[in-house]
Amino acid sequence: MYMNKIKFLFSYLRHHKTKFLISFFCMLFTGGLTSLSRWLVKPIVDKVFYYKDMKMLVGIVILIPVLYLIIGVLVYIKNYINVYIANDTVRRLREDVFKHLQHISIDYFVLKSTTGHTLAKLTNDTNNIFQMVAKTPSVLVTDIVTMVGLIIVLFYLSVKFAVLSLIILPIALFPVNIFTKKLRYYSRKTQSEISNLYNNLQESISAIFITQIFNQQENEIKKFQNFNNKVFVAIKKFARIEFLSSPIMEFIGAVGVAIVILIGGRDVILGKWTPGAFFAFLATVLSFYQPIKKIAEINPILQQGFVSLERLIEILQQKSSVIEISNPLEAKFNHKIVFQNVSFSYKKDVPVLKNINLEISKGQKVAIVGPSGAGKSTILNLLLRFYDVDEGKILIDDVDIKNFSLKSLRKLFGVVVQDTFLFNDTIWNNLTYGNKNATLQEVVEVTKFADIYDFINNLPQRFDTVVGERGYSLSGGERQRIAIARALLTNPEIFIFDEPTSALDAESESVVLKTMKKLYQNKTVILITHRLNLVVDFDCIYVLCNGEIVEQGNHYQLMSNNGLYTSLFKLQQVET
Ligand SMILES: Nc1ncnc2c1ncn2[C@@H]1O[C@H](COP(=O)(O)OP(=O)(O)O)[C@@H](O)[C@H]1O
Ligand SMILES: [Mg+2]
Repeated sequence: MYMNKIKFLFSYLRHHKTKFLISFFCMLFTGGLTSLSRWLVKPIVDKVFYYKDMKMLVGIVILIPVLYLIIGVLVYIKNYINVYIANDTVRRLREDVFKHLQHISIDYFVLKSTTGHTLAKLTNDTNNIFQMVAKTPSVLVTDIVTMVGLIIVLFYLSVKFAVLSLIILPIALFPVNIFTKKLRYYSRKTQSEISNLYNNLQESISAIFITQIFNQQENEIKKFQNFNNKVFVAIKKFARIEFLSSPIMEFIGAVGVAIVILIGGRDVILGKWTPGAFFAFLATVLSFYQPIKKIAEINPILQQGFVSLERLIEILQQKSSVIEISNPLEAKFNHKIVFQNVSFSYKKDVPVLKNINLEISKGQKVAIVGPSGAGKSTILNLLLRFYDVDEGKILIDDVDIKNFSLKSLRKLFGVVVQDTFLFNDTIWNNLTYGNKNATLQEVVEVTKFADIYDFINNLPQRFDTVVGERGYSLSGGERQRIAIARALLTNPEIFIFDEPTSALDAESESVVLKTMKKLYQNKTVILITHRLNLVVDFDCIYVLCNGEIVEQGNHYQLMSNNGLYTSLFKLQQVET
């Protein structure tokens, strides 16, 4: 289980071989020089005072700062490199996850994950990985090397007591082992609670409008407190374990030292061991304290890091349900789009579309109408391959759309939906979102076409006006006309409108409709709507009900059918 994650991590670390080597030697020398500086003190002090050597005194006064200066430089280099490697690893990791998310099929976002959870993984979890990568090497190299060095010194001083100490040492390290499982458990819990908190935060902030309309602030605060408390409790439990292993290890160590003192002291009393050797040994044994403590402290960081890695790998392993074939074709549209016996369901056993057959020829205006929930938008989702059909085929010029590259397929369409999304950016950048190379002339042309040019031109900052989050500083009608201009700029073959005016007031609607009518003259248009008066002059109207096409034909044919269309049409005439 660890192996996979370590392998995964190394696929990032391998970019930094040279740097790591430099840091490795810094860590090695730091450990060496630190022990050297301690080892130096005793003989030098003895000699200086024994021989009253003034020169040597000056020598020490110079040597000690020089030694610490060298150590300082080495520590600085290794810290900088280790943080650099961690920083870069996390940057690459974030980028890879982001790239993966950009291409993953839409059902992942709709059904399998939420924005908040993804945000948590890309921020909080990557931070845990940062901590792990930055701090572990130092412990692994410096502290383990120090321990090995100390063990050698122990054996040099006394084989018998060295063996005794080596029996105690693993016992002192044992708590690291028993707490690991618990640490990992509470780390998982903490990370998932933090995820939930982010999720709640993200959702409630985007819902602030609704919250204030319904006066639900108090409830939202309560909900937030609940999530916030859960994070608090999870971290509390983690911390309880996190700081437990260190004192337990120290206690076991102290017992060990006591045993050494007892047996060693007895040997000194019996004259088997010199006091000097005994104290040197004791000092060395006590020096184990520092590295053991560091290992105890790194363990929680490691466990958190591994859990976070696991959570990011989870995203990276998500496979798209919509997959491009290898060597896909360039999509072209010259004749017709055909749905052939298409059936589809989002969830097993809940059919949304049943045996749909429809045809859209180039230049035609085709409408899909029907009550809400009938499956109209789903047809769009299938045509753009946000989902794949369960049965049947969708053909463009007789080629199954599964053979096309997703890019070229989606390039055929200009899509305007009910709830248009604009980026919190300038109008210009929003307009040219799908065509960064658009010239001023082209942009002016499409905005004029979409009847939004005068509006933009009257803004103090014109095309440089920033539209606010989701474009909410604009009215719905203005947003829709920008959306139409944005789609026009990519010069699509086929225009798809999914209830483009449903969210608009009557006046904005009529402006948008006017623009759409202009488009009808030279583009293939698919209009999804439940307003039947918009489709009277369309070439073909498909009436969808409960996922089935129940009627088709132009307005006059359908009216003479006296079926669902006729009754819906009459109902709407009465309403308006
Ligand atoms: N992502 C989804 N996951 C599960 N069910 C969905 C999803 N999107 C839509 N549905 C369901 O599929 C049915 C058709 O939805 P849709 O095509 O959006 O209807 P329409 O556009 O005609 O109002 C509805 O019953 C809706 O609840
Ligand atoms: Mg819909």
